[in-house]
Amino acid sequence: MHIRKKKWARPELEACPWFEPEGEQRKGRWREAFAHPERQLQLEMGCGKGVSTAKMAADNPGVNYVAVDISPDVLGDARRNLVRACGENPGNIWILRADIALIGQYFDRADGPERIIISFCNPWTERPKQAKRRLTHPRQLIQYRGMLAPGGEIWFKTDDDQLWEDSRVYFDLCGFVEAYTTDNLAESGFRPNYVSEHEEKYRAQGVPIKFGIFRMTDREPGFDPTRFRLTPGVRKQILDRLNGGREDE
Ligand SMILES: C[S@@+](CC[C@H](N)C(=O)[O-])C[C@H]1O[C@@H](n2cnc3c(N)ncnc32)[C@H](O)[C@@H]1O
Repeated sequence: MHIRKKKWARPELEACPWFEPEGEQRKGRWREAFAHPERQLQLEMGCGKGVSTAKMAADNPGVNYVAVDISPDVLGDARRNLVRACGENPGNIWILRADIALIGQYFDRADGPERIIISFCNPWTERPKQAKRRLTHPRQLIQYRGMLAPGGEIWFKTDDDQLWEDSRVYFDLCGFVEAYTTDNLAESGFRPNYVSEHEEKYRAQGVPIKFGIFRMTDREPGFDPTRFRLTPGVRKQILDRLNGGREDE
């Protein structure tokens, strides 16, 4: 994705009291950063311009949000969208600039987000070697496991069929169960659905959006995620099982 440089984005972010450029020091203490630490905490990974984040945060003032992205240019837009929807000092939102590949350096179990949201992350389908860069790859899921609250959920949306199927397998291998899935979010009637910038684009093209809620169980994955390669046999076996009936743990 090409991101246009915006001169105003960095200065506006730096002046924003709810922007965190170096979140490592908040690790384990994110809840304290909010006016109401006892409230539910949700993290959005790769929030982009925050189009859906703004609607979600405005609709749910009783939920605390951390919106994460690596690009200050898109985070500048996210801040503006959040201000438009929630005001200059929303109280329930932090913007964090961070590389999600290293997210374990920024959050841990003491933060215990109840939900992680991943919408339209890059599918990295061109070369098999790139798969490890996906935000749903086991390298990531293991890190999310280390921070999610018990029974915490990952809400994942994509337009990409291969990423969707591979991710269902990743979630299964990493000890998550499918609490809800649909191959066509628009027709599913699922609510609430906060439409993101990329979802708007794909909807306009008539591309069905795949969406799932993946719930963490106590089943710890028994493999090294840094050496993980998904083989066609394992992929098929797990997808056959998942398509044959919902698991309950
Ligand atoms: C395709 S956009 C999706 C944006 C938004 N979620 C949506 O649905 O419209 C992917 C976003 O993820 C961010 N991103 C990709 N890899 C990342 C990483 N490793 N760490 C942080 N952000 C990342 C990009 O900067 C970009 O804003």
